[in-house]
Amino acid sequence: MPRSLPGVTLQLLPFPAADYAAWRTAQLARRRRWQFGPLCGDEEAAAVQARTAVDELAPAEGLSGTKLHRVLDDDGDAGWVWLSRQESDLLVLDAEATCPADALLVLLESHARAGDATAIVLDRMAAAPTTAALAAVPGFTTVSQTMVLDLSAGPGEARGEPEAAVLRPMTETSFDAYLDAAIDEYAREIRSTDHVAWSEALDHSRKDYEDLLPQGLRSAGHVLLDVVERSTQVTVGALWLEVRPPSAAFVYDVYLHPGARGVGLGRSAVRAGAEWCRQRGLSVLGLSVLGHNTAARALYDSLGFVVVVEALRWPVPPAPPVTGPR
Ligand SMILES: CC(C)(COP(=O)(O)OP(=O)(O)OC[C@H]1O[C@@H](n2cnc3c(N)ncnc32)[C@H](O)[C@@H]1OP(=O)(O)O)[C@@H](O)C(=O)NCCC(=O)NCCS
Repeated sequence: MPRSLPGVTLQLLPFPAADYAAWRTAQLARRRRWQFGPLCGDEEAAAVQARTAVDELAPAEGLSGTKLHRVLDDDGDAGWVWLSRQESDLLVLDAEATCPADALLVLLESHARAGDATAIVLDRMAAAPTTAALAAVPGFTTVSQTMVLDLSAGPGEARGEPEAAVLRPMTETSFDAYLDAAIDEYAREIRSTDHVAWSEALDHSRKDYEDLLPQGLRSAGHVLLDVVERSTQVTVGALWLEVRPPSAAFVYDVYLHPGARGVGLGRSAVRAGAEWCRQRGLSVLGLSVLGHNTAARALYDSLGFVVVVEALRWPVPPAPPVTGPR
């Protein structure tokens, strides 16, 4: 059913099958340029990863589990939206449309309501203009962000003094202590975002760590470092990187013991991690952060990390009451 804002009437129609192959080629280019290019720091690696992502979500033989729609306005073709469904969320995987963002959101809201979705989740590449305009409509909150730091720009901040924190390879003992604390911390995040019981959050957290580090400290590609306070030589936390050849590394975790937070050691540890990567010829350091982790987000923003992809949530407001003759 058409939905309207003053002056704009939009409709969603099935996307023409004849245009799918061209759309898919364009989607591949968007992912390569806006998502995997910045994350990989290498053209070839970005092309491979973009291909894998698009093959999974938008196979050449046609979409399964996601749906592509044509957007029509009063003048005809106004673009497309690519949607999916995850439990009670309507996911917007990507969009490109010439209509005003608030009108597009009204259309999506109507579509969400028709499918009993209770929230719209915008899974967006930061450089994509239409979803950037959607994200700017008031009411979205940040669920998570994936950010990158360009290491080729040099150390960034001018520093006269040595870092307050130094990085050392973890020992088996420090790894065990780190893992216990990290599993606990991640389970807390899962519990607060997914609203599940503690035991379920803990199982989920343990399983994710086992999958990521099947050989513990010796898991291929993973680098687990103690964060040591230079002045006291006390281990105050951990930095966990994955090296993603040829050019990138990804921060899986940066963790400071609660008593060591807020005095500059986290900033120093991330800077030292960036330097560790730079010295090994890497040009990009990526990481993901949950939206509610304001301390970490402020830290990464101030160090010059920029958002590449993010997920934003917009709760679908209750339907207006139906009025009419009694
Ligand atoms: C995130 C974390 C690593 C930051 O380390 P830290 O040593 O506490 O941070 P620093 O003292 O170096 O502060 C660096 C910047 O972080 C931000 N920050 C730190 N604590 C903050 C707080 N409580 N509220 C808001 N911003 C905060 C500030 O921008 C600060 O810069 P400023 O001091 O110039 O204002 C640490 O808090 C931590 O281990 N948290 C738990 C694990 C975690 O969330 N890791 C990140 C996963 S993505």
